[in-house]
Amino acid sequence: MTAPRTVLTYGTFDLFHIGHLRLIERLAALGDRLIVAVSTDEFNAGKGKKSVVSYEDRSAIVGAIRGVDLVIPEGSWEQKRSDIINHGVDLFVMGDDWAGKFDDLADVCEVKYLPRTSGVSSTDIKEMLRTLDPIHIEEMQTALGTLTRLLEHYRDLT
Ligand code: CTP
Repeated sequence: MTAPRTVLTYGTFDLFHIGHLRLIERLAALGDRLIVAVSTDEFNAGKGKKSVVSYEDRSAIVGAIRGVDLVIPEGSWEQKRSDIINHGVDLFVMGDDWAGKFDDLADVCEVKYLPRTSGVSSTDIKEMLRTLDPIHIEEMQTALGTLTRLLEHYRDLT
């Protein structure tokens, strides 16, 4: 009998979307046990990033996805090597936006990068939601008001 294969990945998983789901499905298929390290709010703040969804909720969502066996917090850049050793990880996988960045871990386990799902990212979703911000709605209303007044002005001239 071959030993179970443990897979590990890291990410923020904010506004959980289809790219995240496809990645987790592919990761789960690569081994017998999948560990996902979810970035904490403090770690993200240190990178100048702020997620819409809290760490508590992001980790609960990721943990509820079929194929995920364990969620651990990602609180630093340096923890990967000790996580791999402590959790007996065989395969470390990241999306190919990180291609080559973690090759130094190849002395402790296999390192792999998977292609991202095209056309979706948390950043894109945040950008789309931003257009619904009250401030942006106010800006649009002001612009619409100006346009209406201009149209009325030209209508009165003709
Ligand atoms: N991922 C993916 N396909 C996507 C988006 C993300 O495979 N379309 C993968 C990333 O490569 C990473 C994991 O999902 O391994 C978690 O990515 P994360 O950075 O949390 O998601 P993004 O949507 O890329 O978020 P952001 O826009 O903030 O970078």
